[in-house]
This record gives sequence, structure tokens and C-alpha cells, in this order.
Amino acid sequence: MTQYVLAVDQGTTSTRAIIFDHSGSIVSVGQKEHEQIFPRAGWVEHNPVEISENTRFVIGQALAKADLNTGDLAAVGITNQRETAVVWDKNTGEPVYNAIVWQDTRTQAIVDELGALGGGGDRYKAKVGLPLATYFSGPKIRWILDNVEGARERAEAGDLLFGNTDTWTLWNLTGGPNGGVHATDVTNASRTMLMDLDTLQWDAEIAGEMGIPVSMLPEIRSSSEVYGTGGPGGVLKGVPIAGILGDQQAATFGQACYEPGTAKNTYGTGNFMLLNTGTEKVASKNGLLTTVCYKIGDEAPVYALEGSIAVTGSLVQWLRDNLGIIGSAPEIETLARTVEDNGGAYFVPAFSGLFAPYWRSDARGAVVGLTRFVNKGHLARAVLEATAFQTREVLDAMNADSGVPLTELKVDGGMVANELLMQFQADVLDVPVVRPVVAETTALGAAYAAGLAVGYWSSLDELRANWAEDKRWTPELDADEREREYRNWKKAVTKSFDWVD
Ligand code: G3P
Repeated sequence: MTQYVLAVDQGTTSTRAIIFDHSGSIVSVGQKEHEQIFPRAGWVEHNPVEISENTRFVIGQALAKADLNTGDLAAVGITNQRETAVVWDKNTGEPVYNAIVWQDTRTQAIVDELGALGGGGDRYKAKVGLPLATYFSGPKIRWILDNVEGARERAEAGDLLFGNTDTWTLWNLTGGPNGGVHATDVTNASRTMLMDLDTLQWDAEIAGEMGIPVSMLPEIRSSSEVYGTGGPGGVLKGVPIAGILGDQQAATFGQACYEPGTAKNTYGTGNFMLLNTGTEKVASKNGLLTTVCYKIGDEAPVYALEGSIAVTGSLVQWLRDNLGIIGSAPEIETLARTVEDNGGAYFVPAFSGLFAPYWRSDARGAVVGLTRFVNKGHLARAVLEATAFQTREVLDAMNADSGVPLTELKVDGGMVANELLMQFQADVLDVPVVRPVVAETTALGAAYAAGLAVGYWSSLDELRANWAEDKRWTPELDADEREREYRNWKKAVTKSFDWVD
């Protein structure tokens, strides 16, 4: 019997279920968007119940489209938006508050308070690989326990559970209050600020300082092993759930970046570049994160350096939803092509502060270089160029940290369909940009991890052989022009600083 592997990709804007065959080709896709809730400036929430309902829905949709049923699935993998924090009651399955999304900046006061204990922004960096920032889950859990009435008491009594959306998804798919598995993988755990990168266990001291009971944290497991099976009566009844990777690590895995020195860049709501550093944990001196890349079963963990950019694709959505300048995201390319260049305008999308390499939570968005000449075509260009310039800053940091300049960049994610952006990206980086045939590398990576655990795929070599190049963009821009544009960008970035008292 031919079997398949299904991956659930619980992303920032939508949840998808993708079924893959043994060659890593897509068989069918289910997808549903969920509401983005913005209760006030800087706050971003999701409804966890909507997410779990959508998850069940898209799994059913993907199976139905391919005319398959659960018996046709060898395994299921989960990948997810990372850092987004859900806290729920283990007896009822009810969340005590909305999920606080990774882009949310409400924990600034908590982060400042922790830094003031000594060490400033680097207080936990040596242990967890991350600077103190509103981005990560730990301070979000603390906020929920501090602000939801009765939550701290219930957490201390052992009634509340925490998870990023991988854990929330796993727990619900494996039975919820009736035996749901409360676990996460090392990659997701490495985004909480609570996991020691060497021991791969929760650090009781940090959890204590943040006021988080360790008992509410999920068990940390590898990225590729059987965590449990789909609960009876559920959409995945009896199917092993056997892979979990945070979405950016999953994309790295799906892009077959298995050798130290290989890297990928994903263009989603934000951009995330990960460089595999092998079994060695490299500390960044240039504003990058040290994170777990993946861990296959009992094998040693593989680490990565990561350059996280908070706002890239979501800037295009903002142009569509908040300004109405375009009717759909792909229209940005058409609009940008109505002009020759950015007309002198630069758009710094510091909506959640600035992440790598700056980590400036006081930054807010800025559009600079405006004259009466600038029109919406120029703004569309500036929006696309912001993604490429931010990526250049991250690549420069990566080259400086690793000492070995990258010679090409593998790319994936929604925005890589934008030819104008991809050419500009190659121009600004001055290295070729390469897109694989299967650009859904995030879901593919989670499917690979799950398939490896159950023997559907036998080795990384087999996965590597599935990777194939679709298109390559080579740099065309003259060096003087490139560096002039980049200098202007850097100047524009400084205008986004110091907007929060
Ligand atoms: O760290 C946040 C990241 O995991 C979100 O990814 O693809 O949902 O924007 P995405």
C-alpha cells in the first residue's frame, strides 16, 4: 500500500495541512486563515480554540482532496509559528487567555525588569542563546500569570499547562483533556528563554526568576520520534505523530541544510535566516540568535545561528489591509513595476521594534526620503526593498560571526514567488539566490522529521536527494549603486529609533 506523510503547519496567519509522497512532492493542501487580533498598539493575539478547530478542518480537507483516509498516513509532523504562547487548563482544555503572538511587545516592562536584575539584555544569553526581548515565550507566560485573575494560583496548583502552538496542537490531536500528550521539541523549547542549550532541559533558575512554575512546561523531546498517536474519535485516529520542529528550523530541514555552513532564508510574515553550525553551539557577536536547529531521536543536537526579522511579508499585508493601496499581496509586484526605482523612499517596518541584528524594542516604523515626486509605486518598491535590505543586514552579521562568507542563499516561503524581489535580493546581497522546486519547505521539513522517525524515509541522504533547484537569480547591480542604496537604508534605520518612552 502506498503511504504518505502529512504535515500540519500552524503558522502566524493560517494553518495548513500538506500531504507529501515519498519523493517529497505535494499531494494535497488544506488551508484556513485565522483572525489576527490587535487589542491595542503593539499587542497581537490569536484565539487558540479557532486554531485547533482550523487544524482539524485543514487535516480533513487535505485528506478529502487527495481521496485518502488516516490509514494512508504513515506519520504526521507538526511545525509552527514559534514563541507564540498558549496557557490552558489541563482538565477542561480551555485557554485562560488568547495566545500571545511572537510579534507582541506588551512584555517590555517584564523584560526591562529582568535585565535590571543584572546583565542587562544579555542576562540569560550564555545559557539560552537569546537576548532579553519581547519576542520570546517566557515573559509572555509571566504576563498571563500576572494579569489573568487566578491564573498564578491555578498554575501553582498544577492545573495549567503552557505550550507554543506545536504543543497546543499535539495535546489537542492526541486527546486533549483525555490523555493528550504535553510535549514539545528542542527547537521550540529553545525559543522560550527557559531552556539550557547544553542540557536541553528547562532551567529552573531562569524559570524561577520569571515566576513560571516548571510543572506547567511541556516535556522536551527530540524533533523526530513518536510522541503519541491521534486520539480515538479524532481526525488522526491512531496515526503516529512523530515530528515537531519550529517553522524556521523545519524549513532549514526541508531545504536539506544538513551540513555545517549551509543556510536558508524563509520569506513569511517575517524573514528568518538560519545557518547550520553543526553540533557546535556558536555564540553570536553580531546580534544573531543561537538556537537548536534539530535533533533526530537519540543523536546529538545540531545548532544554528539565526537572523530573525519581524516584519517582511506582513508589511505587504499591512499595505493591503491597513492602507488599501493594493487589493491582494501579489499586486505589490505589479505596482512596484510601474516605476524604475524607489524614488528616494525607504520604509523601515519596525512594527515590533527591530529584531536582528539590532534588538531595539524602542524602534517603530518609519518612511523616509519622501518628496512630492514619490507615488504609490515607489512606496511599493520601498516595501519590497525593506525585505531585501533587512536580509542583507542579517547576512552581513552571519558572515561576520562565521568568518566564512556564504556563497549562495537558498530561499523559500510565500514571497519567493515575487521575481522583482528575488532579483533585488541577489543584487543587494551580491550572491546568487536559489529557489527549490518544492518551496513549501517548512511543511516538508516537518514531514521529513516524522517520516524519518517511523522509517518512511531511511536517512538524511535520501532527503538530500529529493532537493532540486527550480530557479536561480544572479547579482546584476553595479557595486557602487548597491553600496549607495545600502548606506541610505542604514541611515533610514537610524530614524526608526527612540520612539518608545
Ligand atoms: O519566530 C516566528 C516565526 O516562527 C513565525 O514564522 O512563518 O509564521 O511567519 P511565520
